[in-house]
Formats: sequence, C-alpha cells, structure tokens
Amino acid sequence: MLGIETSCDDTAAAVLYGTDIRASIVSSQDHVHSCYGGVVPELASRHHMENVLPIVDQALAQAQVGLEQLDGIAVTYGPGLVGSLLVGVSVAKALAMAQQLPLIGVNHLEGHLLAVLLEQEVDFPFLCLLVSGGHTSLYLARDWGKYERLGVTRDDAAGEAFDKGAKMLGLAYPGGRIIDRLAQHGDPQAVRFPRAHLKTGKYDFSFSGLKTALRQFLSTPERGNYRDDDIVASYQEAIVDMLIANVLRAAADLNATRVVISGGVSANSRLRHRMLTEGAQSGIQVFVPSLKLCTDNAAMIAFAGAWRLAVGQRASLQLNASATLPL
Ligand code: KG4
Ligand code: ZN
Repeated sequence: MLGIETSCDDTAAAVLYGTDIRASIVSSQDHVHSCYGGVVPELASRHHMENVLPIVDQALAQAQVGLEQLDGIAVTYGPGLVGSLLVGVSVAKALAMAQQLPLIGVNHLEGHLLAVLLEQEVDFPFLCLLVSGGHTSLYLARDWGKYERLGVTRDDAAGEAFDKGAKMLGLAYPGGRIIDRLAQHGDPQAVRFPRAHLKTGKYDFSFSGLKTALRQFLSTPERGNYRDDDIVASYQEAIVDMLIANVLRAAADLNATRVVISGGVSANSRLRHRMLTEGAQSGIQVFVPSLKLCTDNAAMIAFAGAWRLAVGQRASLQLNASATLPL
C-alpha cells in the first residue's frame, strides 16, 4: 500500500507491506514557514507541488517496489489546509488512474488514531487522546471505523497552545519540540498557570485562558524573577495537566482500561512520561507510538487505507479534498 499525506506542511509518502513499514519519507517545510511563525497555506501547497512526486519516488525506491506491484493508493483527503490536501489527492488520483489501482481516501485523524497499531497490539475498545497542531479531541474507539468523539477543544489545539506560547517566549516555530527540550531543565511548579475547568462539555478542552495568562505574566515585572526554563516547564505542565485530567476522568467514568495517545503533541516527553505513570497507577494500560509515528507521516495513512481496502472500501476518481472532514 502506498500512502500519501499532504494535509498541512509536511509532504509524506510511505510504503507498507502489512504492518511492515518498507519506507516512510517525510519532507518537512519547517524552514519555509518558521520565519512567519506559523504555516502559510499558499506556500505550503506550492512546496507540496514541488516535493510530492520526488517523495513518492523516494518511498517506492526505498521499498524497492514499482507502482505496478502496489495493491492500492491511500491518500489523506481531510481535514487540513484545502490547497495542501488537493495536491496529495490529485497526485493519488492520477497515479491510481494511470496504474488502474484502487484509490482509498483516508481521514487524517483516523490515521493518527490508528498509528500505534502499526507497532503494538491494542485491543478495542480504547480511549484515544488525539493531540496535534490542528486538533485536540478525546475519542472512544469501539472498533475499526467506529469512533465516538467524547470531547474536543473549545478554542486552540494543544499543539497551537505550545506553538503560540513558544512564539510569545521568542522561540522558533514550531515551538512544541523546543518547549519540550527547554522544560527538561526547568521546574514545572515554578509558576502556577491556570487550568481550565469547563462547566459543560465534560471532556472538552480549553487552552485560550492559559495562553492569555502566559501573555499577562510575561508583561509583569515579576517575570524577571524567573528563569525561562522554569516558565516554559510551568506552561507545559499546565497543558499536560489539562490533557491528563480529562483522559483519566473519562477512563474512570467509562471503565476504560486502555488509552492511546497520538498526534504531534503525543511526542511530548512530559505527556508521555506522566500518562504512562499516572495511567499505571490507575490500572490503565497506556499505548504510546514511537516518535516517528506521532507527528504527521504517511505510514499511518497507508495503514488506515489498508484496512479500509480490506473491507472493500475504495474511493472513486471524484474524491475531493475536504478541509473540515469530521471523524
Ligand atoms: O500531528 P502533527 O505533526 O501535525 C498536525 O496534524 O497538526 O502535530 C504538529 C504539532 C505542532 O503543534 C508541534 O509543535 C507539536 O505537534 N509537537 C510537540 C512536540 N513535537 C511536536 N508539542 C509538544 N512537544 C513535542 N515534543
Ligand atoms: Zn496530524
């Protein structure tokens, strides 16, 4: 199965044989967008256009397969930036048509949700905390393709909270990884940032108050008394606290014994460590994908496409990009 992923700013292609990742290439555009402090959609789609075919060729070469040996082509068709999605969808349709191969449209969020199954056996049902730059949701995965959203962010995604916080602190884009690194030298209890407790939407998330609190804190004279590493560690701790609190509450309410974390923010070392230890203390088995499967990649798209193809699903050549595709 060939997977193609171009939903945001990473151009990715992967070749899977069952759960064996024969190739997974991710071409980052961080260098293109970093000077703007965020992804510029027009630039992202232009760079996808330049990169996508060389990246597909590279994946096929590394996997040592030709297009004619594939069983199908899976492509992310939403949600994401519409111009970016269109590049992947158009290329996948053209290749599928030229080679007479099945085409499978994949929801990017399902890719993240299932990614860990490429590496570990996880029985359904499980709770999945999906935390990325564009999404923050809690799902109950009952079975393949049967997902119930229990909670969602009311404002920013967790990754945005990391990236916008990093920007306020004068750090480069994307800031999540940088905050993670700096926080390892800081005291997470140094500054007490607020945690949102929502009255409605039991498992919903909100990060805008925290972001405002950081902005206000940075403009106070008090700020001078704190080391940057301590501020960063405290800010990260507030995000992680809010994420874990919701997951553990939902797990207790639903008697869930398995939790998966996924998406770019699941690469965060503090979230991974605390989720594993606090999950174990509550009798919950926590499954964490390896770092390469947390952030955007095409292996997870090929994997989600493979099970859909196995149950007979395929897209027509009318497949279109859908910026707000729900899961
Ligand atoms: O899943 P992803 O690669 O793309 C989206 O679908 O959004 O997630 C990207 C997000 C960015 O906001 C980035 O800052 C964040 O994941 N991220 C991290 C870490 N690595 C990536 N956030 C916190 N700690 C990390 N180690
Ligand atoms: Zn993603």
